[in-house]
Amino acid sequence: MNHHIQPSQARVIRELVENWSGIILDENDVHFLEFRLRPLLKKFDCEDYSDLVEIARRGGTAIRTALVDAVTTNETSWFRDVNVYRELREEILPGLIAMRGVGAPLDIWSAACSTGQEPYTVAMLCREIERLHEIPGFHATNVRILATDICQEALAAARKGVYDSIAIKRGLPPEYIERYTEPRDGKSAVTRAVKDLVRFDQMSLMDRHYGTEQMDLILLRNVLIYFNDQTKRDILDKAHRRLRPGGILLVGGAENAARYSNRFEAVFANGMTYYRKADPFSGRASA
Ligand SMILES: C[S@@+](CC[C@H](N)C(=O)[O-])C[C@H]1O[C@@H](n2cnc3c(N)ncnc32)[C@H](O)[C@@H]1O
Repeated sequence: MNHHIQPSQARVIRELVENWSGIILDENDVHFLEFRLRPLLKKFDCEDYSDLVEIARRGGTAIRTALVDAVTTNETSWFRDVNVYRELREEILPGLIAMRGVGAPLDIWSAACSTGQEPYTVAMLCREIERLHEIPGFHATNVRILATDICQEALAAARKGVYDSIAIKRGLPPEYIERYTEPRDGKSAVTRAVKDLVRFDQMSLMDRHYGTEQMDLILLRNVLIYFNDQTKRDILDKAHRRLRPGGILLVGGAENAARYSNRFEAVFANGMTYYRKADPFSGRASA
């Protein structure tokens, strides 16, 4: 019995993870893999990593889900990157609401939502715009936020919407805690008014088709970094197809969509960059 993962076993796992999720794992970081996979030995009744590799090779939903869940990095926070959320609140959301027409549904997709802070932050911003009557006639219930992730564990936490004090304080301003969460068993639960705007679903960005539903805003933030260049290009192409003309794409601060796709118009604003799908009727040209 060997309690350490061997380089050849790590290679098999890395290849399977890449096939199943697109995620590229660092080949030099065998310890990361060993640490993340250790709980699976017990779960799948394995004596050592060679048993686990054998089960993984045979495939099936259970091992596939467990393996992908084990290696994903679900790091997230509320209002991650203040510039982005300021621009979203002050310019992007009002612009999209005006473009769609007040009263028309606004479709938003948080495409790697992790434990839910990202889609719930967007929902809170919509509730704020409504609360302050910033746009006459706007009702937050016209906003439909689809939040997806490949990781079942993260999605389960997102669906619950209940956070401990450490998680809640990571970026959520006190007035938002007051207004949009309520105490539950020593933790903070996102209020129904916020939860009702978001629906969660499990989905991999590697899926061939993302459905046909057209979006006005896609948040594809802090996830492209895990993929190889071709996968980044494919995912950006698919995101472009899912956007309505004039729709907006947001990526993470360390990600640059223009490097992998020339389909979007890059907009530089207030210390951040976002990407717009050209609207043939507005006279805007694509970059
Ligand atoms: C670092 S978190 C980013 C969360 C959030 N977007 C943010 O910016 O705070 C990356 C998320 O991407 C998800 N992910 C990784 N590969 C994915 C894939 N192929 N399809 C969908 N989600 C994926 C992970 O499960 C994880 O929750």
